Amino acid sequence: MSSGKILVTGATGQLGTRIVQQLLKRLPADRIVAGGRSAAKAPPGVEFKVVDYDQPATIEAALDGVTRVVLVSGNAVGKRVPQHQAVIDAAARAGVQLLAYTSILRANVNPLLLAAEHRATEEVLAASGLSFIALRNSWYSENYTGSAAFAIQAGVVQSAAGEGRISAASRDDYAEAAAVLILRDDHKPGQAYELAGSTSFSKREYAELLSRKSGKQVVVQELTESQYSAALVHAGLPEAFAGILADSDAKAGDGWLFDDSRTLEKAIGRPTIPLEQTLDAALAAK
Ligand SMILES: NC(=O)c1ccc[n+]([C@@H]2O[C@H](COP(=O)([O-])OP(=O)(O)OC[C@H]3O[C@@H](n4cnc5c(N)ncnc54)[C@H](OP(=O)(O)O)[C@@H]3O)[C@@H](O)[C@H]2O)c1
Repeated sequence: MSSGKILVTGATGQLGTRIVQQLLKRLPADRIVAGGRSAAKAPPGVEFKVVDYDQPATIEAALDGVTRVVLVSGNAVGKRVPQHQAVIDAAARAGVQLLAYTSILRANVNPLLLAAEHRATEEVLAASGLSFIALRNSWYSENYTGSAAFAIQAGVVQSAAGEGRISAASRDDYAEAAAVLILRDDHKPGQAYELAGSTSFSKREYAELLSRKSGKQVVVQELTESQYSAALVHAGLPEAFAGILADSDAKAGDGWLFDDSRTLEKAIGRPTIPLEQTLDAALAAK
């Protein structure tokens, strides 16, 4: 990448902050713009500009001098296609040379409920005329390790995923790949990168890992999708969100979060961080 700035949207979130940190290792700080809704949460060391997906004028203003964009998908499930479209439209108008969008594994065919908005966003990108790449991220390891202490205390990992294998990687891995790929110039038009962990695990193996780490027995409780959804509601999740998570777990059981292409490993030039290491960090932080 020869000139111009890179804007990272969602830069106040967990993935976006890490993408900014990874870009700082590769580019002068004055070539990086962190975009987000709240300056108070801005990552340090780079310029911050307000980027609110619901306020197109903020997006347009933040694109001044920007030639590449990492569009981190938002977290307002159900509202994301128009939000992402606002960024894509503004980037096309501003003449952005490359946009990378954080999508989901095999977004074009993935039946997870959560995949629909990613698929629709990729379709908006394809119709936009922009040069773009899809960073089709698998699950974060942190989706599991974030509740590891609770699972150890309960002695149970609830699952609707059966023996399905999940190729999770850490946010640090996906962030590094985003930084590497947005800086490359050798993409095919609309290229999709299926980004996933170098290794995979089933939820039974995850429970075994929790047992080994804690010295306490942790077992898998096999549930149907509707039983798992009900259990999540019982644990305090809103019904709609519980349904989405149960759907994802059941479809992970059918292999939709598995990928052994090692595309992520090739992009970052090292194997992804092992689940056990991410777990150690999560347990140490408690
Ligand atoms: N692969 C996976 O396992 C997985 C898991 C969960 C989510 N995801 C997806 O990956 C994305 C990044 O993950 P994450 O862990 O970084 O999530 P996160 O910490 O929740 O970050 C989401 C980011 O989206 C921003 N955002 C939400 N609504 C916005 C709006 N209207 N305008 C501008 N920014 C907005 C948030 O801004 P604020 O800081 O202002 O709230 C935040 O920076 C998520 O948003 C979601 O699409 C993937």
